[in-house]
Amino acid sequence: MTLQFNRINISYMQAVIDAVDFAVPKKRMANSDFPASLDTSDEWIRSHTGIGNRHIAEPSTATSDLAYEACRKVLKRSGVAAEDIDLVLVATATPDYIGFPSVSCIVQGKLGAKHAAAMDVVAGCTGFIYALETARSFIVSGSARKVLVCGADILSRVANWQDRNTCVLFGDGAGAVVISASAGAKERGIIRSVLKADGKGFHLLGRDVGGTRTPYVEGTTDPLGGFLHMDGRQVYNFAVKAVSEGLVDLMEKSHLSVKDVAWIVPHQANIRIIEAAAKRSKIPMEKFFMNIEEYANTSAASIPIALSEMCSRDLLKRGDVVLTFGFGAGLTYGGNLIRW
Ligand code: ACO
Repeated sequence: MTLQFNRINISYMQAVIDAVDFAVPKKRMANSDFPASLDTSDEWIRSHTGIGNRHIAEPSTATSDLAYEACRKVLKRSGVAAEDIDLVLVATATPDYIGFPSVSCIVQGKLGAKHAAAMDVVAGCTGFIYALETARSFIVSGSARKVLVCGADILSRVANWQDRNTCVLFGDGAGAVVISASAGAKERGIIRSVLKADGKGFHLLGRDVGGTRTPYVEGTTDPLGGFLHMDGRQVYNFAVKAVSEGLVDLMEKSHLSVKDVAWIVPHQANIRIIEAAAKRSKIPMEKFFMNIEEYANTSAASIPIALSEMCSRDLLKRGDVVLTFGFGAGLTYGGNLIRW
């Protein structure tokens, strides 16, 4: 399906988030549920990461299933019909299939969003932030009026459950927003974004086997190569710098100070990353919304899940300035400034 260019005056168009919702698997796994053979503990995981639980997808569930559920719910909540969506964007690092077909096409088909273009955004845990800015750009250019943006990941499927350094960190989930073009006079919606990458760190976080660099070859491929690997210490250092400097950059570009910001919604990877970044950038920790205790690191889904929980708890008021900020594989990092 092609995108239709419309005749709206693009200079007045803003990309406003109409609704947000999420879906996580029913199966909830506490820190104490890890087998004794893993040699870890609730105390270690909580004190080093802030994680208490995670939700784990059943073997029969693929990323598009969680993404579809989050998208179905958010369309219902927004009152927007699937046929009215111009573009479906799914940010994911764990697609149903390697490379193609995209998760977004599977979701588009299941939803019956028959007028929508569909593509995946691959930017690791920063994917949702990249996708929000992509949606904003389509809307302000007049190429789309309604965009469905979803962040969805099943990292439990690619984690090595024998590696305590990584498997305790991740959970599964999906979160989605409907974004509409609005010609309102007041500045609202996604105002601007800062998107960054440092590809020199590509080797710090990823999966080795299965792509064109190292295809799977029966009998010779390292069976551990398909699992996620991470240099935790290096990623930690990168993330603290990215969050602390990136948030200040986003505020400065917008001529805002911390007191103008109602909430910062960071990628939920590790509470110690956020505490260290808060200290370094002199932003009070109370400004950061955290729900890592319940969901662990759900990758591209973590920010929309957090936004959805904030809405349910009535924490976001019309006009509030909200900053998102994420970091992840690539390396990628960035944030969005949203006037709610
Ligand atoms: N349980 C018990 N002990 C553990 C565990 C565990 N689950 N994991 C590691 N340890 C041990 C290590 O083996 C090490 O033991 P040793 O001293 O005998 O070698 C000890 O704990 C300390 O290990 P460190 O790696 O130094 O622990 P650290 O305090 O750095 O915390 C962590 C590790 C949590 C992974 C941290 O480095 C981190 O958060 N990194 C960033 C991770 C991240 O957020 N990645 C994702 C970002 S992008 C994305 O979201 C995909």
